[in-house]
This record gives sequence, C-alpha cells and structure tokens, in this order.
Amino acid sequence: QRASLTIDLAFRIADVDPRLYGSFVEHMGRCVYTGIYEPHHATADGDGFRGDVAELVRELAPPILRYPGGNFVSGYTWEDGIGARENRPRRLDLAWRSYETNYVGVDEFTRWARRMGSEPLMAVNLGTRGIDAACNLLEYANHPGGTYWSDLRRRNGTAEPHGIRLWCLGNEMDGPWQIGRKTAEEYARLAAETAKAMRRVDPSIELVACGSSHQRMPTFGTWEATVLRETYDLVDYVSLHSYYEQRGDDRASFLASAANMDRFIESVVATCDHVRGLLQRTKRINLSFDEWNVWYQSKFSGEEALDWAEHPRLIEQEYSMVDAVVVGSLLISLLRHADRVKIACLAQLVNVIAPIRSEPGGPAWRQTTYYPYALTSRHGRGSVLRVEPAGPTYETSWMGEVPVMDATAVHDEETGTVTLFAVNRDQHQPLALSVDVRSLPNLEIGEHRALFDDDPDATNTADRPDRVTPTRLADVQVTDGTVTVVLPALSWNMVSFA
Ligand code: AHR
Repeated sequence: QRASLTIDLAFRIADVDPRLYGSFVEHMGRCVYTGIYEPHHATADGDGFRGDVAELVRELAPPILRYPGGNFVSGYTWEDGIGARENRPRRLDLAWRSYETNYVGVDEFTRWARRMGSEPLMAVNLGTRGIDAACNLLEYANHPGGTYWSDLRRRNGTAEPHGIRLWCLGNEMDGPWQIGRKTAEEYARLAAETAKAMRRVDPSIELVACGSSHQRMPTFGTWEATVLRETYDLVDYVSLHSYYEQRGDDRASFLASAANMDRFIESVVATCDHVRGLLQRTKRINLSFDEWNVWYQSKFSGEEALDWAEHPRLIEQEYSMVDAVVVGSLLISLLRHADRVKIACLAQLVNVIAPIRSEPGGPAWRQTTYYPYALTSRHGRGSVLRVEPAGPTYETSWMGEVPVMDATAVHDEETGTVTLFAVNRDQHQPLALSVDVRSLPNLEIGEHRALFDDDPDATNTADRPDRVTPTRLADVQVTDGTVTVVLPALSWNMVSFA
C-alpha cells in the first residue's frame, strides 16, 4: 500500500501552544500518594516526593499539570491541605470513596510542579463549594501579602505568591456521578459569578469553563452553548474530556479514535463560534482538552462499591503497544487543531491511567504510552503544517471510512527542523509513504523513531519495563525532493529532517 503527503512551510495551520502537552495529577488512587509522593521511599526528597518518579516526569516535562481533580475537586476543602502536616484532617473523599490524608496540598504540589518544569492548572470546587472558597484559594495562591489568606500562605512558608495563571471552574459539572452536579443553567450562573469575582482578585488569570463530560452526554452541545452564552466575556477556554478504548475485538475502530477526536473538537469549535456569532463578539473561545487518554472504562465498572481505603489501587491500566499507537494518533489530532486547542492534559500522570507507573517502595517505569507522548512533546514544537495526506482508506463499524494513515507535521522555526508524525492503522501491511519536500531543498534526515511490535498486546511491566520501546525506522531515504519511508504495520512513527 502507498500513501503520500506534501510538506511546505507556506501551509501553516497555527503555532503549537506548548500547553498542548500537559498532564493531570488528581488525588485519586495512587497518583499522588505512592505515585509522586512517598516520603518513605528510598529515592524520596526532603519534601517526601519520589526521586525516581520525578526523573521520569522531568523527562516528559509537561508544561502544565492539572490539579487536584477531576471528580475529587468537587468535594475538596483546599484549606485542609495547608499548614503543618500533623494538623491536617483526614477526610472522606466521596468521589473515589477513599480516605484523604491531605499530606499533599496546594503549597507542596505547586512547588513540586515547578521543580518538574510545570505550571499548575488549578481547579476550584464548584460542586460542594462556590465563589467564596474559589476566591480565597486564589488570594492564598496569588496575592502578594497583607491580607488574611496571603499572609497565611507566607506563614506557611511561601513568601512569594505562587502566581498560578490558569484555573478550571469546576470539573464535569454535568455528570450524574459528580458531587454537586448542576444543570447547564445552574452551572452557567455559578461559573460566571465565580469568574467575575476571581478576576477581581487577580485580573491576570485565565479561566476554563466546564464543557460536557464527554460527547455522548445527552446535553452535549446545548450545555456548551448555555454555559458560553452566560460566561463568554469572562472565560478564555471551554473544556473537553474524552477517553478511548477497544470494544470487543474491534481493533479497526479503536485505531480510528483520532477521527472521533477530530469530530469532537470540530463540534465544540462550531458551538463556540455559534455563540460568538449570537453575541456579536470578536473574541474567540479556545479549547482546553484537559482530560484525554485511552482508558478501558468498561473493565473498571463497579469500583464505587469498594471499601474505604487510603490511596487504593484505582484504574491502574497497563498499556499495550496498540494503546500507544492510539495515543500517538490522538496527539496528531490535537496538533491538527492547534489553531483552537491551546491546552490539553493527558489524564493522568502516574499510576492512574498513566504513562508512568510506580510500586510502593519499589521501582518506577515508563508505560508504552510514555513514548509517543514524550517524543511528540519534545519534537512537536513550532508551527503545525497542513500536509493533505492521500492514500488508502478502510471501513470501520464506529467511524465509517477512515484513512489508513493519519499524519501531521510541525516546523520548528528556531532549529529549522520539520518533524513528521504518522500512524499506520493497517494491522497487517506496511505502508510506503512518499513525502513531497521540494520546497525544502538540501534537507537531511535527522532523528527518527517508530513504535511497532510483533505482539500488539505487549506491555511494559515492573519485571520487564523495557519490553516495548521505540526503535529507529529501517528505511528512510531522501532523493530528488522526496522523502520515502516505510511505515511498519500498526505503528506510530516520527521522522525529523532539517
Ligand atoms: O481521570 C479520571 C476521571 O475521569 C476524572 O476524575 C474525571 O474528571 C473523569 O471522569
């Protein structure tokens, strides 16, 4: 099979906002406790954070980290997580039926995130709480001093303001599972008034309003329109959440997940611009895809029946090679929409549906999905180019006819490097790709990597942490203005040239 595309620096879509490569740390299962934080671990630093996990996070360097939830935030009392640890209350976390020790709170998390090279994307509780708690947290975090909350921060050891710029107005507020769920009208009013008050505390912040929890929600579309009509002038982004999984043995549909992500993004963009038209505004609302990943949700139902426990093992998904290919293709979809998707968070960072796994008192390792995420984040900086791929298609029961190859390219103006990202969804056949690069004379092939395996179900485990790792592509050539590359069957690929 053959496919082709053209790379021309004139066909620019948009600059990539580095925040597209964010991730998510929720107080859920073992993401925080025995994930990033484990004071008795052999590698723990003075603050109790694991050094081995930190090393893997630093390698990813997610520019933003959403925190502290997720569903958790809708019942969270942020004041429980400040001050002397021995005085912090142990609480019931109703979202995940877990005991919350509050050993990690806003101060420790923000300091740790900055050490990782990340900015927090802080969520406020609009489930059980509201304007007052949100403004107090913002004052605690960002006000320089001389007021009750800012002076309390200083007394708690952080003299300079945390300077947190990005804030989420709640989480999945349309979801029946959410503590303090709201109707669209209720949430729209609360989000607007909270945004207004928060902007008075600190006008420099950026705000994300909750979109639908997922695109199959019965109110999808009308929820976004109702919320944006009320909040349009007060917020900057609307959120999207989506998780993908293989259903039964329909791998062909699973591999087409990015086609669904494309459609989801384009629907939300249409709704944002519809409201823009109705309100006759020039400002555009952009998208914060602040939860996305592969998650076998169907395998994890019934966890709500779990007994109360401290940091139980929740949704510790082991990712296969094929899951990594899908994660790589979802990143291609996000890049393709870089004109409107400015923020995205791979949910989550450690242990809970995460690219990094760790064992209490034991090792930390990279899952298969770590690689496309790390490599796209490292090489996908600059401006995204429209590449107009042409090639074979195949039929899926879920998304209809989809291209066998999905691809995009990013031009880094600083280094002059162009990087192509491409997925071959064919499970059995390699794909010969020819790339027209006549507009880029004298180029040379640089770094290239591919993820493929004889066993698409292969995973990385504590015992075999390097079972699946990227390899160099066997066959990449450049002649007479054409790069040719053979994409192995069922593979994610990255080729850089300059
Ligand atoms: O990431 C796991 C959960 O999925 C989050 O807490 C919630 O927001 C979403 O439903």
